[in-house]
Amino acid sequence: MKLKKAKIDWDSLGFELVKTRSMYMATCRNGEEWAHGSLVPFGNIELSPAAVVLNYGQGVFEGTKAFHTYNDQISLFRINRNARRMHFSTKRLCIPQINSDFFVNSVISTVKDNLDFVPPYGKGSMYIRPIVWGTSPALGVRAASDYTFVIYVSPVGPYFKGGVKLLNLKIETNYHRAAPKGIGNAKAIGNYSASLYPLLKAKQKGFDEVIYLDSVAEDRIEEIGSANLFIYNKGILKTPKLNGAILDGVTRDSVCKIGSDILGLKVEETDIFLKDLFEAEEAFCTGTAVEVTPIGKVSYKDKCYKFNKGQIGPIAKKLQKTLINIQRNEIDNPFDWLLPIII
Ligand code: COI
Repeated sequence: MKLKKAKIDWDSLGFELVKTRSMYMATCRNGEEWAHGSLVPFGNIELSPAAVVLNYGQGVFEGTKAFHTYNDQISLFRINRNARRMHFSTKRLCIPQINSDFFVNSVISTVKDNLDFVPPYGKGSMYIRPIVWGTSPALGVRAASDYTFVIYVSPVGPYFKGGVKLLNLKIETNYHRAAPKGIGNAKAIGNYSASLYPLLKAKQKGFDEVIYLDSVAEDRIEEIGSANLFIYNKGILKTPKLNGAILDGVTRDSVCKIGSDILGLKVEETDIFLKDLFEAEEAFCTGTAVEVTPIGKVSYKDKCYKFNKGQIGPIAKKLQKTLINIQRNEIDNPFDWLLPIII
């Protein structure tokens, strides 16, 4: 089937919102089930200034992607993992739990209604942002009684300006992102607001992003805020183990599986200390938005450490390529990660 495409300069896409035709919207009262929603024109929403989300940050979101694949299908990538995490995050933030069928069906209707905004094969992807928040007003601290769930989409290219490059990261010693028994492992909006100030400060000094340290053991690596972190050294691929503060990233899990099942690497989800990072042959970060992005160098206090002489390493390169190949359905693989919605 020939898929119609919107009039967009697909080659100059970055990670900025491009408005599309429609968004999905549903509401739910506490104690009821998410059941009814519909597509509405993409646009602004009206909210009480006393809405719980605005005052107390009761909101969670997801990030997932649709791809125009090699065989001319439009497919979702590991959408069930996002559904599972949304279920977990809504529970943690006292939001009526969004079940998997409702979540996946809503994503499918949104993508189908905006099909012409899925970039052509090989030109990026459609980023899908499901978000849910406490809508009703409350002056005292408590969960809302009414909730709104929205899914909007945007065609995207690379997350970091200028395309895939080698990141220059600051190891953050002044701020933590999350605490182990907090909400760091939920995709809560508040985790991202906590990262804005350290990110701003780092960018002013020429860094692309920051690496957060564990709030208990400050010589242990946590995550990047917008992504998970991996190192490769002496044949072993390592990523920080999920400790309650780290987000259980879909790309993180995909890279672990590709590393072990396709590349035959030893993969460890374990503690990673600063010295492990400094000694690593390669380092890179993973996320739905950032995909697999290599790290060229990190700075800790006044010292700078380079990986693979500041070039993308062979392992990061293979993982990056294999993930994209799988997402575009270009290679046979042992996984069943694509859900075609337009065949
Ligand atoms: C994602 O990778 O989907 C994220 O949610 C990270 C970020 C853009 C907030």
